[in-house]
Amino acid sequence: MTMTTVSTGAPHDVRDLALADEGKRRTEWAEHAMPVLRQIRDRFRTERPLAGRKISCCLHVTTETANLMSALGAGGAEIALCASNPLSTQDDVAAHLVRDHGVHVYAIKGEDHETYYTHIAQALGFGPDLTQDDGADLVSALHMITLGRLDDLAPPIRRMVEAMSPAERVAMVKRVRGSTEETTTGVIRLKAMAKEGILAFPIVAVNDSRTKHMFDNRYGTGQSTLDGIIRATNLLVAGSTFVVAGYGWCGRGLAMRARGHGAHVIVTEIDPVAALEARMDGFEVMPMAQAAPRGDVFCTLTGNIHVIRAEHFVQMKDGAVVCNSGHFNVELDLDALAKVSSAKREVRAFVDEYLVDGKRILVLGEGRLINLAAAEGHPASVMDMSFANQALAAEYLVKQEGNLAADVHRLPVEIDDQIAALKLAAMGARYDVLTAEQTRYLASWDAGT
Ligand SMILES: NC(=O)c1ccc[n+]([C@@H]2O[C@H](COP(=O)([O-])OP(=O)(O)OC[C@H]3O[C@@H](n4cnc5c(N)ncnc54)[C@H](O)[C@@H]3O)[C@@H](O)[C@H]2O)c1
Repeated sequence: MTMTTVSTGAPHDVRDLALADEGKRRTEWAEHAMPVLRQIRDRFRTERPLAGRKISCCLHVTTETANLMSALGAGGAEIALCASNPLSTQDDVAAHLVRDHGVHVYAIKGEDHETYYTHIAQALGFGPDLTQDDGADLVSALHMITLGRLDDLAPPIRRMVEAMSPAERVAMVKRVRGSTEETTTGVIRLKAMAKEGILAFPIVAVNDSRTKHMFDNRYGTGQSTLDGIIRATNLLVAGSTFVVAGYGWCGRGLAMRARGHGAHVIVTEIDPVAALEARMDGFEVMPMAQAAPRGDVFCTLTGNIHVIRAEHFVQMKDGAVVCNSGHFNVELDLDALAKVSSAKREVRAFVDEYLVDGKRILVLGEGRLINLAAAEGHPASVMDMSFANQALAAEYLVKQEGNLAADVHRLPVEIDDQIAALKLAAMGARYDVLTAEQTRYLASWDAGT
C-alpha cells in the first residue's frame, strides 16, 4: 500500500484512479434520487457556510456519500475521507472523488486491518476542524490521544501519534470544534463518553433525527439487508424461516421486508417492550437458543456483541445462512464458530462455509454489515435524508461554534421538519397545516369535549 499524489488529484490511497469515470456515472445516478441534498448543495454553493473548514469523514465510501462530499465541497470545505468499514468501499467512487472533487480519499474495498487503520490515521493527520463519523472511529481515536491512552489505539494510529510532539497532539485535538455521528452504535459510544465527562467537543447525533433513524434504519436497512443476503446467496426468501435478532429500527425494517417476501419471521430480543411489539406485529418471538435449530436464515441487527454464539451455531440446520447488519462485526462470534468447525472455505463471493459436525454453516460477508459488503448499502433516496442531516449538522456546528457544550446534541427539530418538508415536496406530496383554532386548542389545557 502506498500513498501517492497525482497532478490531477488530491493525496489519496485508492484502488485505481482509472475507475473514476464509472464512479462519476454511478454517483450521478444516485444524485437523481437525492433532491433534498441537491437543494442543500445549491444553497451551500451560494452561501459557502463551510468556507475555510477542513472536514475529515469516516463514512461508507458509496455513491450517496460522494453526493454528500459534493455538497460539503460546495459549502467551501476541504475534505478527507476514509472508510468506516473495510468492505463497504466502492472503489470507482473513491477514484471519482479524488479526480473530480479533490477529496483526499483513503479507502480500498477489502483493505486489511492494518490498512483500514492507516487510512483512519491519514484522515486524522489531515488536521480537521470538524469530523463526520459512522461508528465513532475518528472521535474515539481523538479521545484516546487526549487521554494519553496510546496503547488503546490501533498500531497505525499509535505510530502516527508517537511521531508527533505532545504540543502537536494537543493542537490536533484542540483544532476539532465538533463532530457529527451517523449511526446508533456510534451514538451509544459517544453518549457513554459524555456520561464519563470526557468529551472534548460537541457532537451532533445525526442518527437521533427522526428523518434519519425512522427512514434510513428502518426502510433503508430493511430493504438493503435483504438485497445483500439475496445477492450473496441467490436464495429464495419465500417459504424460508428467517430469524431477525433485534427488533429496533433496523430489525423492524428487516422483519417487515422479509415477511413481505413470504418468509416466516422469528424475532429474538432482550428488551421486553421490543419483544412484545414484535409479537403484536405478528411475529414469533423466542430466545436465540430456541430459534437456532429452526432458522434457514439468521441476521443480527442489535448493536450488541456475540448475539449468535457457539451454542447456537452447533444447533443450526445444514445450510443455515448467517449474517449481520449491525454496525460492527462483533454480533456473530466467529472465533467461537471457527473453534467448533472442522473446516472452513469460501464457497462463493462473500460466503464462507464452516463445517460443524458435518453440517454446513454459511457465514456472509465475514459477519460485517451485509447490506454494504454484498450489496450497495441503502438506496440513494433514503440516504438523501440521512446526508441532508449530515450536511446541515456540519453547517449547524459551524454556526453554533462556541455556543454548544461538549455533549451529544440533536439537530433542532425545525431542521428535522425542514428535511421532511423538502422530501415531501420532492415526492409531490402535500400535507395539512394547523388551523389557528387547532393551534390554540393544542396549546390550551382547559378546553374539553
Ligand atoms: N446495516 C446498516 O446499514 C445500518 C443502518 C443503521 C444502523 N445500523 C446499525 O444496526 C444496529 C441496530 O441499530 P438500530 O437503530 O436498530 O438500534 P436500536 O437500538 O433501535 O435496536 C437494537 C435492538 O436490538 C436489541 N438487542 C440488543 N441486544 C440484543 C440481543 N443480544 N439479542 C436480541 N436483541 C438484542 C435491543 O433491545 C434493541 O431493541 C446498530 O449497530 C446500528 O449502528 C446498521
